[in-house]
Amino acid sequence: MRLFNNAAIWALLSHSLSLVHAIGVRPGQIKNLVTFGDSYTDVIITGDGGVAWPAYAAGYAHLSLFPFARAGATCSNDITFRPFPSLFESQLPLYFTETANGSLKADPWETIYTLWIGTNDVGANALLTGSAKASIVDVTACAINWVKVLYERGARNFLFQNMIPLQTVPLYSADSYSNRYWTAPRNTTEWNVFMTELVLSGNALSKVLLQVLAPTLHGAHIGIFDSHALFTDMFQHPSSYLNGTAPVNVTGAIESCVFELNGDTGTCTTVTGAARDSFLWFDELHPSEQADRIVAREVAAVIQGRKNRWTTWLS
Ligand SMILES: *[C@@H]1O[C@H](CO)[C@@H](O)[C@H](O)[C@H]1NC(C)=O
Ligand SMILES: *[C@@H]1O[C@H](CO)[C@@H](O)[C@H](O)[C@H]1NC(C)=O
Ligand SMILES: *[C@@H]1O[C@H](CO)[C@@H](O)[C@H](O)[C@H]1NC(C)=O
Ligand SMILES: *[C@@H]1O[C@H](CO)[C@@H](O)[C@H](O)[C@H]1NC(C)=O
Repeated sequence: MRLFNNAAIWALLSHSLSLVHAIGVRPGQIKNLVTFGDSYTDVIITGDGGVAWPAYAAGYAHLSLFPFARAGATCSNDITFRPFPSLFESQLPLYFTETANGSLKADPWETIYTLWIGTNDVGANALLTGSAKASIVDVTACAINWVKVLYERGARNFLFQNMIPLQTVPLYSADSYSNRYWTAPRNTTEWNVFMTELVLSGNALSKVLLQVLAPTLHGAHIGIFDSHALFTDMFQHPSSYLNGTAPVNVTGAIESCVFELNGDTGTCTTVTGAARDSFLWFDELHPSEQADRIVAREVAAVIQGRKNRWTTWLS
């Protein structure tokens, strides 16, 4: 009599293999969330007019939050200069200082590092309007370098959040209007087309670069959180996500300010109360608080080791 049939042996074998080469983080493993990025992730100067996604995610998944993302940031001010605390010149150095002097203690095994960057790198005043020295290749390589640099300092668990379809935010939509982020004359059709290309190329490139990098970082877990797919789904199926008291709205913003060409103070319209949760965008550039709760819910699921529709673990 055969003790095991082939299927049983295969099941046993693949189970033990998966314990050795398990990809992704395990349920209960992660206790700390360390966030890097721009205003989409900043918990102090929040982009969504309310509570930012990392605070929600930390609450949903019962994590200690160490927030380093800062509004206005690009990956590196040596690549795309903006007068804000960039990832490489400000956020990472602060993290390294705090770990070196002991004010931040986080066991690498129990800690996950997230990065959501690119919005300012590809945006107006950077790649979209032309850069003398940088391209989408440079800013994407910079973002991937964040994984390497942290890995070398002991970090092991990474979630890389790619760029959303920025051509759908009011600032970059084809029927955009003059607003607080841009008041100079422009061709909104051209911006819309070019932004679509920048985001798609940057995301395709970051995916391939991470796929190449992942097998070289022994013991690391690297996941790609597909913000692009999630926001595309929210844009196309808003009633599955937006729950305010007004009709769902993915083209306007909770706080929209129409400026005159070349600037004035703007004429603002602000949606208040429970109707706000009907909107995908807070203003002409930022996701709404409800959109951020969705991001937080999905990221929390990943961190808790659950299977997630938007996440691909590469290692
Ligand atoms: C560690 O460095 C940070 C950032 O410079 C500073 O705010 C903090 O007070 C320092 N902590 C100690 C214990 O030196
Ligand atoms: C804006 O750009 C589009 C696409 O290149 C072009 O078809 C259109 O004529 C331009 N509009 C103006 C007002 O120049
Ligand atoms: C919408 O759902 C979120 C949970 O995702 C909840 O916190 C919020 O209060 C809801 N908004 C309204 C207006 O019911
Ligand atoms: C969406 O919101 C904007 C800003 O409040 C408003 O002007 C627009 O009419 C709304 N669109 C829809 C389809 O409700």
